[in-house]
Amino acid sequence: MTFLFNSDARRGAIFADAFAKELPDVPFTMDAATVDPDAVRYLITWTEPEDLARYSNLEILFSIGAGVDQFRLDTAPEQVKIVRTVEEGIVRMMQEYVTLAVLALHRNLPGYLAQQRAGEWRDIPQLQAGSRRLGVLGLGHLGQAVLDRLKPFSFPLAGWSRSPRRIEGVTCHHGERGLEEMLAASDILICLLPLTEETRGFLDADLFAKLPKGAALVHTGRGPQLDQEALVAALDSGHLSAAMIDVTDPEPLPADHPFWSHQKVILTPHVASVTQPATAARTVIENIRRHRAGLDPIGLVDRSRGY
Ligand code: NDP
Ligand code: OXD
Repeated sequence: MTFLFNSDARRGAIFADAFAKELPDVPFTMDAATVDPDAVRYLITWTEPEDLARYSNLEILFSIGAGVDQFRLDTAPEQVKIVRTVEEGIVRMMQEYVTLAVLALHRNLPGYLAQQRAGEWRDIPQLQAGSRRLGVLGLGHLGQAVLDRLKPFSFPLAGWSRSPRRIEGVTCHHGERGLEEMLAASDILICLLPLTEETRGFLDADLFAKLPKGAALVHTGRGPQLDQEALVAALDSGHLSAAMIDVTDPEPLPADHPFWSHQKVILTPHVASVTQPATAARTVIENIRRHRAGLDPIGLVDRSRGY
């Protein structure tokens, strides 16, 4: 019942140590070329190997990140469980990034950076936090963790999900109507949705038009959810004031893409969260224990929903 680690050797060494200590009866390897494919029960990887079918006894296909949109969910054998890795490092980093982005947008940082470059010393009218309404698209592990971290700033908080949720201190919306209500009341919109057929192209001109004038966007979901041209148009028309973008399509963007130099855009190269190997190894080991005990792993993907 071998565990095959298919990612970088630095993180693999940390996983190997953790497995040796915590699950010594599960042989650990990083060498797909020499492993007996029939022995592989668990595989962790970012991209799905072309030859996945050779692991005929595979029980769990782990994504080394929180997303699974890079996997072909419809072709992996039925009996294989697909599991995301939502570990404390990913969660903490996403809380940091979204807090950074919200505060930067709330305190007009893109405007001040533009003024600095132009040698201008001028204050921009400042809303107080109690009047800056935040809306989070996606109330899963990350959306909820981010909202929790933002609570002390006293921004009015709202969130939207597919199914109804109750979160203390957060106005929760769901469904089409709930989306319209939340958009109309979001001065900073944060996207933490998984990429599925339903969310592809979701952040488009229609959606931007439903936001209040002067609203800003934080995008940390997935690049293909955003209509990048529509965002540039909304920024250029002045309907949206600024955006902090961590994920794009493609990654990286071509050298002539307007995001690189747009004064209202802060761009980061898909670094909001990065899987931390020590904490991720603990999460994966715990999930193997749960699976062996007949329990569902945490982060089990529902293939019909696509996340
Ligand atoms: P979860 O699966 O825990 O949560 C997803 C949330 O989105 C749920 O609340 C779900 O609703 C909601 N949702 C999904 N589809 C729809 C829809 N069609 N309409 C309304 N709501 C929907 O995911 P995580 O919070 O763990 O992660 C979210 C995403 O963050 C990842 O998929 C990944 O794309 C991105 N990410 C980005 C990183 C970065 O570095 N930029 C790092 C890590 C993750 P419901 O609650 O009803 O199921
Ligand atoms: C992830 C990511 O899904 O890094 O973990 O985007």
